Amino acid sequence: MSLAGKRILLIVGGGIAAYKCLELIRRLRERGAAVRCILTKAGAEFVTPLSLSALSEDKVYQDLFDLTAEAEMGHIQLSRDADLLVVAPATADLMARMAGGQANDLASTTLLATDKPVMIAPAMNVRMWEHPATQRNLGQLLADGVLQVGPNEGNMACNEFGFGRMAEPDEILSAIEKHFDGHAATRPLDGLTALVTSGPTHEAIDPVRYIANRSSGKQGHAIAAALADLGAETVLVSGPSSEPDPTGVRLVRVESARDMLAACRAALPADIAVCAAAVADWRVDGAAGQKIKKRNGAPPALSFAENPDILKTMSRLRKDRPKLVVGFAAETEDLIENARAKRDRKGCDWIVANDVSPDTGTFGGDNNRVHLVTGDTVEDWPKMSKNEVADRLANRIAGHFADAAE
Ligand code: C5P
Repeated sequence: MSLAGKRILLIVGGGIAAYKCLELIRRLRERGAAVRCILTKAGAEFVTPLSLSALSEDKVYQDLFDLTAEAEMGHIQLSRDADLLVVAPATADLMARMAGGQANDLASTTLLATDKPVMIAPAMNVRMWEHPATQRNLGQLLADGVLQVGPNEGNMACNEFGFGRMAEPDEILSAIEKHFDGHAATRPLDGLTALVTSGPTHEAIDPVRYIANRSSGKQGHAIAAALADLGAETVLVSGPSSEPDPTGVRLVRVESARDMLAACRAALPADIAVCAAAVADWRVDGAAGQKIKKRNGAPPALSFAENPDILKTMSRLRKDRPKLVVGFAAETEDLIENARAKRDRKGCDWIVANDVSPDTGTFGGDNNRVHLVTGDTVEDWPKMSKNEVADRLANRIAGHFADAAE
């Protein structure tokens, strides 16, 4: 895709990943975009204004109180002159200042003054990323409409492993392209809201042990991304999963089935609900408050209590029932028959039935072969990737709402 004529204001924060910005500028320029850079004080510890200026072929802006720069172009104009503001790397500190609406340097002032879309590419140590404060700030930024790309999982400069690596220049570039592409035309799910559940749930035995299942979250995450891509304002309620956070989606992380139900209720009202999570049917009744100790050969006897059925609850709500509720049926035999029965039992509108016999490799794999059960009809879809299943389902949902509007 060409980015000819697009003006990107790149805000380079202070993180080791700042070096990737140089490549990003080159790639944006190759596609015809004009790039102008703001370099924070901390960012200048990692890359030089000279490199940024050479690659962007423009002046680099660094100081809020630079009279010469203000005379040429004030910070308000700087923020308005762009089509998109990209913060890369978006450090924990920069995110916190953005979320709090602070304006104490040129970067934060420009971000507060802008009326243009903003995209962040977070980069930080995994603990900093996972800290509730950062996640809270991220939630605020996403609620404010900020777009997010990354971070990825991997080795960090600080020798730790986990989420926090900044997205690669290629990924940031494609998120930017997608943004402009998506805004070129109106999207079929614009104005609708969606709720998606994904991943397994963890049911505590005691503070250190839990019962889980093999769900990866791949399918649910892909569905959330696909619905958001078509314009739906999407909340993804996910149990523990190592899938990267989908872009353009508000992610709510939960552990147990009961937390998942509470998060789903909090996300209502929604027009669309897709329950793709592999929710544990049972939890340990009276999970221990302290780690259970070994007792001379007498293993603890666990007893179970039934978990709430989230799909059933959503489907049977009197108030706020989503207009379209979609469930999944993972079966190993009599697929369609069982799926139909499940649709009736749960009270949902559609069921996506998939064969999860061990030889299909569906669990944790990238492919899926599904059948869509809507009312009396069954559509057999060919084997395809989970991303393709997600795109097709999102398009079917869009078609359903378009028909209903006629
Ligand atoms: O009952 P079963 O687990 O076979 O049904 C699968 C469907 O029900 C999936 O859509 C799953 O997300 C949903 N489900 C749920 N809450 C439960 C159990 C299943 O939302 N406690």
